[in-house]
Amino acid sequence: MTEPEDYDDYRETDVLVVGSGIAGCAAALAAARDGADVTVATKATRPEGASSWWAQGGIAVARDDPEQFKRDILTASDDTADPGAVDVLVENADEAVRDVLVDTLDVGFDTESDGEWDFGREAAHDEARILHVDASTGKHVHVPFLNHLDDREDVEILDDTAALDLITREGRVHGALLERDGEVVPTYAGATVLATGGIGDCYPRSTNPDGSTGDGVAMAALAGADVADMEYVQFHPTVYPGNDEAADGDEGPFLVSEAVRGEGAVLRNGRGERFMPDYHEDAELAPRDVVARAVQEQREATGEVVLDVSPLDFTGDFPDLAEKCVDRGVDWGEGIPVAPAEHFLCGGVAVDDRGRASLDRLYAVGECSRTGVHGANRLASTSLLEGLVWGLRAGEDAAGWDPEVVEAPELLNRDPDLPDNFAREKFVRLRRVMDEYVGLRRDPDDLRRAQGVLRRLKGEVDAYVRTRTSRSLYELRNASVTALLVTRAAAENGESVGTHNLVDAAETTAD
Ligand code: SIN
Repeated sequence: MTEPEDYDDYRETDVLVVGSGIAGCAAALAAARDGADVTVATKATRPEGASSWWAQGGIAVARDDPEQFKRDILTASDDTADPGAVDVLVENADEAVRDVLVDTLDVGFDTESDGEWDFGREAAHDEARILHVDASTGKHVHVPFLNHLDDREDVEILDDTAALDLITREGRVHGALLERDGEVVPTYAGATVLATGGIGDCYPRSTNPDGSTGDGVAMAALAGADVADMEYVQFHPTVYPGNDEAADGDEGPFLVSEAVRGEGAVLRNGRGERFMPDYHEDAELAPRDVVARAVQEQREATGEVVLDVSPLDFTGDFPDLAEKCVDRGVDWGEGIPVAPAEHFLCGGVAVDDRGRASLDRLYAVGECSRTGVHGANRLASTSLLEGLVWGLRAGEDAAGWDPEVVEAPELLNRDPDLPDNFAREKFVRLRRVMDEYVGLRRDPDDLRRAQGVLRRLKGEVDAYVRTRTSRSLYELRNASVTALLVTRAAAENGESVGTHNLVDAAETTAD
């Protein structure tokens, strides 16, 4: 440990929020409304760097049947979601959406010709209850949210700024070491809210933006906070595969929203046959884990799977997706080729109904947290909602403490440089292991093997972390810690449930 004065500079803030998606923005808003000075540190160079910007489907609300919404969440989770957490989500949903998205940010959700909201339907929802803007809801929520926070004097947003480690003392979190342009600044906070999003960089194909390296989960776990449900990694069934190694926007994968199946699109295998009715009575609208495994199985058996959008008015209903297909040279008249891709971590930093983690003054919200709402499989269009509801609750709770300046972790050698290709090569190895052994179907022997490989990889990375402060190195460390947590949890869970599907225990799902 070292004195803060040993750093060139240090900062103080009432509430430090790490991450700038909807959950981080909501936490910042609520804390500021409660009188706190808030610093938001985000790796994102705005706005596309946050997962929320990429969200397509929308945000589910309770409408006039909250009990049915709760049942749908529990059913999609294979009855593993925590009913108390589901109550919190659903009972706060409509008020949070009304207060923040409608009244504060003025988000223009799509409406019918009579001016009433046009609620969309997605898989495993019993009714149409999803507010959306085309199929690019995320950016229509996220951009005004950032603009709103920019306009507030009590919120400062630090772009392109990574949190490297939490500052802890005797079980209490006092902020984080923040890095920008190679300079590391201890930032002391009365409370620290992690809102760092997902773990897409741990897999070769993901719907997450680049930089989704599980930072919040890894930093919290390394500081001694509890994590839970890490084995429950959700794969989205309908992602245009593109080039796995490229970023979205050029040659990489892109999501084809579940809302498209909600409007009537069907899945066909390489023989042109519709196969989902053989897997589940709800066919294309079955829970996401069921559809993802079926798509994978049919791709392996018949060479490819396409999403047939001929039953709907694709250009009329999904103009932005149609445009994306045109940009990428995909002829949707032939069906859109799709494959499963890593989409969402249902587990994460274990928190209570206010986002409080097991360490004092530490909170986690959004995808990096485990609230219990999703259990083993998340219901579509509940992630923005969870981020909003828990972000507000955590932000409110986090306001009220002054920062305390304590000793900070010592950085022995602040050299930001790494050998060429060091991180890239290790990431390739990490993703290959996760893809082969810790994907949609899991074999207990493979999981043990994967743990061995990942432990060795983490050991190699740790040796460098002791002497370097490169951001890409810390991202690699975070990804390897997170990958190990996922793999260990998967190896320890002998029950095939939701997204955690063990080959030995798996039931035969199709004739
Ligand atoms: C989608 O639009 O299919 C994704 C929505 C979600 O993940 O909730």
